[in-house]
Amino acid sequence: MLWGGRFDGGLNSDALKFSSSLNIDINLILEDIEGSIAHAEMLSKIGLVTPEELTTLVDGLIKIKSEWELDKWKPAENEFEDIHSAVESRLFELIGDTAGKLHTGRSRNDQVALDLILWTKKACNHLIASLKEIQKSFMAIASSHTETLIPGYTHLQRAQPISLAFHLLAYVEMFERDINRLNFIFESLSESPLGSGALAGSTLPLDRDFTSEKLGFAFPTGNALDTVSNRDFILDFLNGCSIGMMHLSRLSEEIIIWSTSEFNLIKLSDNFSTGSSLMPQKKNPDIAELIRGKSGKSFGNYIAFISTMKGLPLSYNRDLQEDKEPLFDSFYTYKASLDIMTQMMQSAKFNQTKFIEDLNGDFSLATDLADWLVLKGIPFRNAHEIVGRVVKGLEEKNLNFSGVTLDYLKTIDQIFDETSIKCLDITTSLERKKTFGSPNPAIVKERIEYWNRKLGQK
Ligand code: ARG
Repeated sequence: MLWGGRFDGGLNSDALKFSSSLNIDINLILEDIEGSIAHAEMLSKIGLVTPEELTTLVDGLIKIKSEWELDKWKPAENEFEDIHSAVESRLFELIGDTAGKLHTGRSRNDQVALDLILWTKKACNHLIASLKEIQKSFMAIASSHTETLIPGYTHLQRAQPISLAFHLLAYVEMFERDINRLNFIFESLSESPLGSGALAGSTLPLDRDFTSEKLGFAFPTGNALDTVSNRDFILDFLNGCSIGMMHLSRLSEEIIIWSTSEFNLIKLSDNFSTGSSLMPQKKNPDIAELIRGKSGKSFGNYIAFISTMKGLPLSYNRDLQEDKEPLFDSFYTYKASLDIMTQMMQSAKFNQTKFIEDLNGDFSLATDLADWLVLKGIPFRNAHEIVGRVVKGLEEKNLNFSGVTLDYLKTIDQIFDETSIKCLDITTSLERKKTFGSPNPAIVKERIEYWNRKLGQK
């Protein structure tokens, strides 16, 4: 019991059960111990704890850490309000009354803020590592598919031919933005909350610079009131996880479409597919569907917690305890989704020739024909109209570009000559692209080189 003096009895057991977050914030145990060791060292530095007491406190905290890691001690659920009380109580059991000195000048309000920040920084790093892995695996696939033609879509209607490598590299760009977002969150967590107390600092001469440096921060936070009520970084993190999951969900949707017999572009490994209990022929892309499904929960976590925050007066309110469930859930969901997606893609096979026949003569080269007219000096709007008539005429005869003749083109406009037919050749369509960022295989290969350099692999 952390506040015995003023109370006549303990918390009602149902109330304790209702209010305990221990089964969730047990995730913070290592950060809690790390923060407590730094705090104890600081108390010794300013003379509020003797060197002997410091040794006793630190040894006790290290013992709790190893007991936890070796599965030798686990706080009894529903006996404590949170991990902070559970660790302190264990410390009393292990070292006796000296444990009572640890909380000097500290409140659980600055303690929990510190634990959460230390945990979130580590979580950012874990996610960044997983994102780099998925980028690497996408590039490995992309390097053997720079010439693999697939249709590119807008409005899910065939638009222009692209390559599979180009499509996959679009996701590598998205993953890079996900990394940048997490890096931003990591960098924003450069100030230490420790020493803010409950909300208004301390009359004790706490050395906040000492704990800040010890725990790897650049500075102590500048306003105690803000410090104990700030959970913006959790919202940033939940948002980062949501956008990342949204990217994985879009990818999942594409994988699901690509694995249909109609598309037949991707063959997922049997190890990452499931069967039907009824239909013997079925092979289902459940992993992709689950990632797509789980993304909803990630978005919900953001909405849930920003709703909790809205309307809270400064500073700490117990409502803030509700930050942990969404935080941990979004992290574990996103991390697991990234890692399983990486494995699933690494083991998948792509049908390299699926679209060569299919795209031959396809109208998705219509823009190329319009560009040809532009190079002859026709204003683009007119060129668009002329090619529109070319397409309409062919469609009426149930033909496509493979059935086109120069005579036919000339019936639409006299300007056409033999060279115009060349730009309807699907096999050279990609290499005719000139612009940086286009699916031209030479440009895509350069981009792969760029990513390989960036990710430090050759
Ligand atoms: N379990 C609490 C939380 O996570 C710790 C801080 C409690 N502070 C308090 N004044 N009751 O928010």
